[in-house]
Amino acid sequence: MFKVENLHFTYPKNKEETIKGLSFEINRGEIFGFLGPSGAGKSTTQKILIKLLENYEGIISYNGNNIAELDDSFFEDIGVSFEMPIHFTKMTAMENIQFFMKLYKRNHDVETLMKRLGLWDDRDKMVSEYSKGMKIRLNFVRAMLNSPQMLFLDEPTNGLDPANAMILKDMIKEFRAQGGTVFITSHIMADIDQLCDRVAFIVNGQIIEMDSPRNLKIKYGKRVIKVEYKENGKTVGVEFPMDDIANNEAFFDILKSKEIETLHSGETTLEEIFIQVTGVGLNHE
Ligand SMILES: Nc1ncnc2c1ncn2[C@@H]1O[C@H](COP(=O)(O)OP(=O)(O)OP(=O)(O)O)[C@@H](O)[C@H]1O
Ligand SMILES: [Mg+2]
Repeated sequence: MFKVENLHFTYPKNKEETIKGLSFEINRGEIFGFLGPSGAGKSTTQKILIKLLENYEGIISYNGNNIAELDDSFFEDIGVSFEMPIHFTKMTAMENIQFFMKLYKRNHDVETLMKRLGLWDDRDKMVSEYSKGMKIRLNFVRAMLNSPQMLFLDEPTNGLDPANAMILKDMIKEFRAQGGTVFITSHIMADIDQLCDRVAFIVNGQIIEMDSPRNLKIKYGKRVIKVEYKENGKTVGVEFPMDDIANNEAFFDILKSKEIETLHSGETTLEEIFIQVTGVGLNHE
């Protein structure tokens, strides 16, 4: 659905390139996560993909058409939330929504959206009186306003309480279930893990790893089985190689004779993969 080929970009005021040759594809009906350290170029990439930044090198195509050559109908197709919610603070939430609705031919049922996100009762409140989380939720309503085919979400759950974050994630999953496609960035690895079909890690303007969260966890994990059992009132932990586990007598002895507390495979978490592949913590002086 979206194809990016050898994308390069330099901000006009800068000498160094911010985006240094990105290539990736986002399939229809997929949630594609973009992860990486602060300053890696995630938001910049999103801004290029939605035609907010121009003068890039490389080819970006949407449904086979070069986005540089698409007319404004492209904006009817996409929904965007920026990392910093920008609203008219001297207007009510509903006035904000009505303003943006007029820009589009197609409109989503706003009442349903706002009720779902717990904003309906506060729709006539000035946005200046909204809490941070309310502004973030309003930002998502705006992204969904035109019933888009594709969503671009820059840290959509950042600053939300767990219950609201869950609602928002459910709405993103429902969007996918109805055929929608999503490009999302987040620093909340659990959210990425729950949502994304595939993720790309971007460091310093380049993609250094790309796969499904599951495959990455297998790739970066240890092929071991970890067992914890009780012995003389204490917890003992042991690891066995996953390979040929069916013939590992020591492993089966423990299963038969001990009081097992936990049993896990050695797959890792996205957090640990993030630290490992991005080398975060190593570059700070
Ligand atoms: N308007 C701008 N003009 C010049 N440089 C910019 C501009 N916006 C961003 N940059 C630079 O581009 C680089 C990438 O920024 P970007 O906002 O894309 O990072 P990010 O990956 O989204 O980070 P974060 O996780 O902190 O949101 C940074 O070095 C930043 O300083
Ligand atoms: Mg960003």
